[in-house]
Amino acid sequence: MALALYPGTFDPFTYGHLDILERALRLFDEVEVTVAVNAGKAPLFSAEERCELIRACADHLGGVRVATFEGLLVDHARQTGAAALVRGLRQVSDFDYEFRMAFANRKLYPDVETVFLMTSEEYALISASIVRDVHRWQGDVSLFVPPPVERALREKRMVE
Ligand code: PNS
Repeated sequence: MALALYPGTFDPFTYGHLDILERALRLFDEVEVTVAVNAGKAPLFSAEERCELIRACADHLGGVRVATFEGLLVDHARQTGAAALVRGLRQVSDFDYEFRMAFANRKLYPDVETVFLMTSEEYALISASIVRDVHRWQGDVSLFVPPPVERALREKRMVE
């Protein structure tokens, strides 16, 4: 059974993330969406909320699990026995950061491969930070995020 981790902040999970997850499932038996707790950042959704939303968005897919991690990603990869780390590439500008991260991860733990998957072109310009910004200014996020995330964003606005 080949397990891949699909790590990220996922604040929030977008259609672009879902697209990469579906592509990863074509290559690996099991894919764990690995949610970075990122204590340093002030996320819109807590790690637990992000996990719940990802589960809701992926409930039609087999072979998906969702977990949080804190600390080094490669330590989590070692603990889970993952064969690969999946990262989505949207455009050339993503590459510099991704390349450096993949190289650092390889130095720290050579047994895990980073696999880059190209997102569908329709999602190439979506990012979680754009979604947060559109939400902040009361824009329509339904084109960018699956319905469970859209609902959660709407509820968040109601309690703000
Ligand atoms: O969705 P993001 O914010 O681009 O995801 C980045 C993430 C969380 C995958 C990356 O920052 C990460 O792996 N952080 C954990 C700390 C770590 O392992 N750093 C070494 C590799 S640069």
